[in-house]
Amino acid sequence: MTQDARATAAKKLFIKTYGCQMNVYDSQRMAEAMGAEGYELTEDQSQADMVLLNTCHIREKAAEKLYSDLGRLKPLKAARPDLKIGVAGCVAQAEGEEIVRRMPLVDLVVGPQTYHRLPAMLRGEAPAILTEFPPEDKFDHLPERRATRRAPAAFLTVQEGCDKFCAFCVVPYTRGAEVSRPVDRILAEARDLVARGVREITLLGQNVNGWHGAGAGGEWGFGRLIRALAEIDGLDRIRYTTSHPNDMADDLIEAHRDIPQLMPYLHLPVQSGSDRILKAMNRKHTAEQYLRLIDRIRAARPDILLTSDFIVGFPGETDQDHADTLRLIEQVGFGTAFSFKYSPRPGTPAYDRPEVDGAVADARLQELQALLNRQQQAAQQSMLGRTVGVLFEKPGREPGQMVGKSDYLHSVFVEAPQARIGDLVQVRIVESAPNSLRGELVG
Ligand code: 5AD
Ligand code: SF4
Repeated sequence: MTQDARATAAKKLFIKTYGCQMNVYDSQRMAEAMGAEGYELTEDQSQADMVLLNTCHIREKAAEKLYSDLGRLKPLKAARPDLKIGVAGCVAQAEGEEIVRRMPLVDLVVGPQTYHRLPAMLRGEAPAILTEFPPEDKFDHLPERRATRRAPAAFLTVQEGCDKFCAFCVVPYTRGAEVSRPVDRILAEARDLVARGVREITLLGQNVNGWHGAGAGGEWGFGRLIRALAEIDGLDRIRYTTSHPNDMADDLIEAHRDIPQLMPYLHLPVQSGSDRILKAMNRKHTAEQYLRLIDRIRAARPDILLTSDFIVGFPGETDQDHADTLRLIEQVGFGTAFSFKYSPRPGTPAYDRPEVDGAVADARLQELQALLNRQQQAAQQSMLGRTVGVLFEKPGREPGQMVGKSDYLHSVFVEAPQARIGDLVQVRIVESAPNSLRGELVG
């Protein structure tokens, strides 16, 4: 496209999202903010007038991806100096100007709490590097979510930041202190999403079950919020992530017992099964407390599928500590789980602690992942013959096939030539593949 042709066409924005679901949500909101400025999304980076990289800082590898991607953008920027390159998200927050020093092709750096100012930054009406935690709420300054009809499953951020300060984690520094969005804003956004065709909402927060706010009748906890959301006509499914074990209050556990729209799935990171390591991680719970909590959750919702996060090779971890983690996994039986080798992060309390030998940590990670994979396969096998709800999200790999998420968040492929995206159907599970299930329509 010539320079002139590009000036008259709508400007194109390419966004790459790294890391967590909170970033996926933030990318959508940034796209909406830029939409109000005349930018529309493109999937083709080479056609973009602006490239925005929404980054993750949780582990070193995630952060380094930014720099390799920026390196790859150099020829595009050299060919088209008018191309704007922006870095958003947690690397932007943590490294700020350092990014521009290392990569001068970057035009804008915007932290997770300031991205509502992106249009002003682009117009030169705000500094090109903005990473403060401003007193105003960015959600008040973002355009309403009035995009066209939406996919049937959407994210909705209800809480941000974390006050837990686990010794390995950058989140309290990159995302700041815990803040809960007000009840009325959350309910309004949820109603608006449902009005646009959304049937499933996943509530997001770094510490989502720590959410609290003033609602009708006084202070609400997260369980109360879920009850209010469940009253929205047309909202068929509610999920949430990510939770901390210490914030699993009774009202939330009761919500799992009482509210059919609240899906039987819970991601509850434990990180380790060793009390010594949990203490060194500043997790403020023991393995036993986690197990008793799981008992209470399963008493409320016996079929709930549990998932978790694990870190192996945390400083000081011995073979015995690792064995304790494996035992905890055996005791719980997870549907699936994420596991990571410990990555020292600058600025966190554990950063300077002596590291576990890399090969030892690798071997432990393999052993742990093998066990978790066996549990995942067993959990999937146990679905065979069962009938579950599936919300169709997109066409499957084969003609006439649809794919969607089960109540338990499995990806399920179903032969359904008449079906449409957004249909919520009953499906009998007939086959288990390594990371998905196959089912047949019932009735
Ligand atoms: N090293 C490895 N894994 C980490 N996580 C957070 N910080 C680190 C780190 N420094 C993992 C935790 C957390 C998940 C989102 O990422 O398991 O729950
Ligand atoms: Fe990080 Fe989660 Fe710990 Fe908060 S609770 S510090 S987000 S691992």
